[in-house]
Amino acid sequence: MPRPRRSRPHPLPPPAARQRFRRQLLAWYRRHGRDLPWRRTDDPYHILVSEVMLQQTQVDRVLPKYHEWLDRYPTFEALSDAPPDDLVRTWYPLGYNIRPHRLQSIARQAVDEHGGQLPSDPDTLLSFKGIGAYTAGAIRSFAFRQRAAILDTNVARVLFRVFIGKGELKSHAMTQRLWALSETLVPRQKDAFDFNQALMDFGAMQCPARKPRCLVCPMRKHCRSYPLDC
Ligand code: ADE
Repeated sequence: MPRPRRSRPHPLPPPAARQRFRRQLLAWYRRHGRDLPWRRTDDPYHILVSEVMLQQTQVDRVLPKYHEWLDRYPTFEALSDAPPDDLVRTWYPLGYNIRPHRLQSIARQAVDEHGGQLPSDPDTLLSFKGIGAYTAGAIRSFAFRQRAAILDTNVARVLFRVFIGKGELKSHAMTQRLWALSETLVPRQKDAFDFNQALMDFGAMQCPARKPRCLVCPMRKHCRSYPLDC
């Protein structure tokens, strides 16, 4: 009887290709990376606020709100105690949505269960209502400087284009595959912070969804999608 066919796992890029990607990405970031206030801190609360704001809003609109929010609610305790109407007013005009309330719920859990701090281990971070896999990875790598992977829509697009090129980007199976890629690519602890920040900027500036700048891309020789219609 024929053996049942198992879907074969997709091979991950070999070490030399990983190394080349890291090197090219970090070189690009040294030249083009943005100097942003949440890259000059390792305060987990500040990083959480920036990441939640950046989830659906562009950097230039987040910048003034990030400062205003931290002036008004400088700690998890201050945010825990704020009246909900006040949160919504401060959040405006980032869009009326659930995000300010989600931030407050994280703050309350931090105060009630963790002495007003965010934990650094992945399972405890993921136990917070409102912290998903992306935000946990961002907090671990940006605040605690751990070797932790991230995957949001920007990062997924970059990794898909460079390493995969074909298939359904938004499928569950592809998301799993892209997480595995992000985990193999993230370099050792010392460079994980810059590498993940670089992926964000590369996705926003060099490899955006529309009009990627393929002709001047440092990855073009080895990119599985080059040249996109640019
Ligand atoms: N989008 C989400 N996180 C970001 C970050 N840390 N820097 C720039 N853009 C981002």
